[in-house]
Amino acid sequence: MKLIRTIKEIQSIVESYRQQGKIVGFVPTMGCFHEGHLSLMRIARKGADVVVVSIYVNPTQFDPGEDFESYPRQFERDEKLAEQERVDILFYPSDKEMYPKGYLTYVTVNKITKVLCGVSRPHHFEGVTTICTKLFHVVKPHFAVFGQKDAQQAIVIQRMVEDLNFDMEIVVGPIIREKDGLAMSSRNKYLSPEERKDALSLFQSLQLAERLITEGERTSKDILSAMKKLVASRKGTRIDYIEIVDATTLKALETIKGEVLIALAVFVGNTRLIDNIVVNC
Ligand code: PAF
Repeated sequence: MKLIRTIKEIQSIVESYRQQGKIVGFVPTMGCFHEGHLSLMRIARKGADVVVVSIYVNPTQFDPGEDFESYPRQFERDEKLAEQERVDILFYPSDKEMYPKGYLTYVTVNKITKVLCGVSRPHHFEGVTTICTKLFHVVKPHFAVFGQKDAQQAIVIQRMVEDLNFDMEIVVGPIIREKDGLAMSSRNKYLSPEERKDALSLFQSLQLAERLITEGERTSKDILSAMKKLVASRKGTRIDYIEIVDATTLKALETIKGEVLIALAVFVGNTRLIDNIVVNC
């Protein structure tokens, strides 16, 4: 596995692979790998001749007061794990490389970034779309793999790639869960043993929604109120949002119909966790 730290170097290596007709698959990450990340690397490995993984904790996608400084960083462990997954190139740029002095350009996707997570994280998606644009230009992959855990992020990136005519595909890998159902996340590391128990209420509320829908319930208001009641029954939780929306437009739905995203963000202690399911009715 090659470790590359500069844009110039990765551009020239990927260009030479592309000229040899090799398919380049890309997994952008912020490091601190768990099974969720590794599953995305495996998806890339299956479809690509050359797998590139980036590790970059992107400052522009953290809103003021969020956990940019304390975000877990464990490069040496990540490097070993990437090697085990047969990643070909690990791209690990510095802040100076990604946002040099005088940097002024940002990429904005409208509407779908203003709802769900965009309400409490107003700058987050602009940071994500900006860094992904930069990484896509630098790495020039044929496809990039994102996780369904960040459902809104995947939808926003898909929209951007289509709107701005990026010549690449976006592939979305399924959510990977712990045995008890908690969605894997780098932020699970912040949870105390008590909070870890409370955190299970996110998945349990999604399971409840699924059960109600299977039993025939179609009114979003009733499903949401049952979910909110379940989450709020855990003392250590504070709901940021629980919503039922169209899985493409992210518009709130009064009635469950078509491809529906049920998504939630909940503070467990000080840690903000997200989870979701997609149902087809
Ligand atoms: O999902 C993430 O880890 C980040 O948002 C991403 C896509 C790597 C951009 O920094």
